[in-house]
Amino acid sequence: MGKSATVPDDRPGIEAPVLADVRLSINGTEHELTIDTRTSLLDLLREHLDLTGAKKGCDHGQCGACTILIDGRRANGCLALAVAHDGAEIVTVEGLADGDELHALQSAFIEHDAFQCGYCTPGQLCSAAGMLTEARAGWPSAVTPANGASSDRAVELTDEEIRERMNGNLCRCGAYANIVPAIADAAGR
Ligand code: FES
Ligand code: FES
Repeated sequence: MGKSATVPDDRPGIEAPVLADVRLSINGTEHELTIDTRTSLLDLLREHLDLTGAKKGCDHGQCGACTILIDGRRANGCLALAVAHDGAEIVTVEGLADGDELHALQSAFIEHDAFQCGYCTPGQLCSAAGMLTEARAGWPSAVTPANGASSDRAVELTDEEIRERMNGNLCRCGAYANIVPAIADAAGR
């Protein structure tokens, strides 16, 4: 069980925050926390649990640096209120590897030199992990041909598909030229 956290705020003139209890499974560990109801999942991870893998780039849903997996689906942690996900299973970049064995995407990013400063990389990895699941399930994107998607057939991940599906994850270093082949490699293309 993880530690409990509260948000004390006794500054004069500041109204006491509304607190709520949440239970979350984060990278396989159960956590019970008492938090300010305005707390995003990103802040809960970073400020309350010291899980700083997910990054705060914009805090406005614009950059993807905070991408995590919520019940297997990728999402921007900065836009997700923690209280709205009580009982959810969260996976962050810290939970992608299996012990000492890196996730295939992590290995591919290293092999393809798919980062420079690395700030966007946790979000890129979690987003790509969610994206691969979506493509395998046959979910179409805006560039999928009309006959290219079905619930019983994986979408073929061309470079165009990968770029389209990853367009919510910005890289200020412009490492896209290596990120795309890294994801294609991990996808087994
Ligand atoms: S920090 Fe969440 S999208 Fe930028
Ligand atoms: S590697 Fe620097 S922002 Fe992407």
